[in-house]
Amino acid sequence: MAFGDGDATFRACGGIEGIQELVEAFYVRMDTLSEAKRIRAMHPSDLEVTIDKLARFLCGWTGGPKRFSEKYGPIKIPLAHAHLEVGEAERDAWLLCMEHALVDRSLPEDLKQYLIEQLYVPAERIRVVVAERAEKRGEDIAQEADRALEGGRTP
Ligand code: HEM
Repeated sequence: MAFGDGDATFRACGGIEGIQELVEAFYVRMDTLSEAKRIRAMHPSDLEVTIDKLARFLCGWTGGPKRFSEKYGPIKIPLAHAHLEVGEAERDAWLLCMEHALVDRSLPEDLKQYLIEQLYVPAERIRVVVAERAEKRGEDIAQEADRALEGGRTP
């Protein structure tokens, strides 16, 4: 069965425990990699809930049980990050933490490669949504300034 079919990826990752261990390793990397300093600073100092959330999300994302919504309700990943400053550097730092976390795990190489390729998709989507929001804010500010100027010209 190919990764992406049913719960094949979830099982190949080692199920709930395997994903929990991967996410714990991911956040250890976020704490220690210098490239991840900025994104680590966006998180709370205590990562217990954050780890629980990402681990639960990845269970469903890999085709396993929808453990995130069971506990925390529905989520849209890009919108959940729209308030953060995520550009290419932040996206790449996040993926780098995952790449490093995967290096230490005894998982098949093709699974590791598949996960990194697939995780790029939501990570890039987050970057795009954040950029669109920033652009929209810029347009709103420009429109407000135009209106103020027009107001100033009104006799
Ligand atoms: C692109 C780079 C990313 C950055 C910089 C980033 C950063 C963050 C931050 C700062 C939080 C809030 C943590 C907290 O307050 O507890 C968060 C939450 C979360 N992130 Fe990310 N993240 C990124 C990518 C991703 C990706 C690709 C996924 C999933 C595949 C993901 C899944 C989650 C989940 C499930 C939460 C919890 C959301 C909530 O409950 O509102 N993140 N992320």
